[in-house]
Amino acid sequence: LSLLVLHGPNLNLLGVREVGIYGSLSLEQIDQALHQQAHSLKAKLEILQSNHEGVLIDAIHRARQQHQGILINPGAYTHTSIALRDAIAGVGLPTVEVHLSNIHRREAFRQHSYIAAVAIGQISGFGAQSYLLGLQALIQHLRLQAS
Ligand code: DQA
Repeated sequence: LSLLVLHGPNLNLLGVREVGIYGSLSLEQIDQALHQQAHSLKAKLEILQSNHEGVLIDAIHRARQQHQGILINPGAYTHTSIALRDAIAGVGLPTVEVHLSNIHRREAFRQHSYIAAVAIGQISGFGAQSYLLGLQALIQHLRLQAS
């Protein structure tokens, strides 16, 4: 099983950026934990962070040939990007949306996600654990689908 993990804009600043909201772990530490969990669940990950919408979209398009599912924290593009949503819908790969913070208890502009309607589901509010829960959910979904 091979999966694409995408981190959207500003997530390269994790550990530095608004630590009270996003936690003190760096993106490298989160990626390491993801690789570890993937390994124990016998899956392989390609992980990419970008601050550019088009780079994320290109990666989603490429994933069609290389991966069976996508785990994505779209960052602020969650709330703005119809293009990202269309890319996910277009490739048709099962996708799980994750957020470190609980977007539903924050500012009104964060409470709408363009991505949620094309995702299997959303995990929001568990800090770095959101990623690990999301990865587990995605892998289980894909294995159930295949069996
Ligand atoms: C975020 C929530 C978004 O609203 C914000 O723009 C981010 C991070 C999260 O993981 O909690 O960059 O996706």
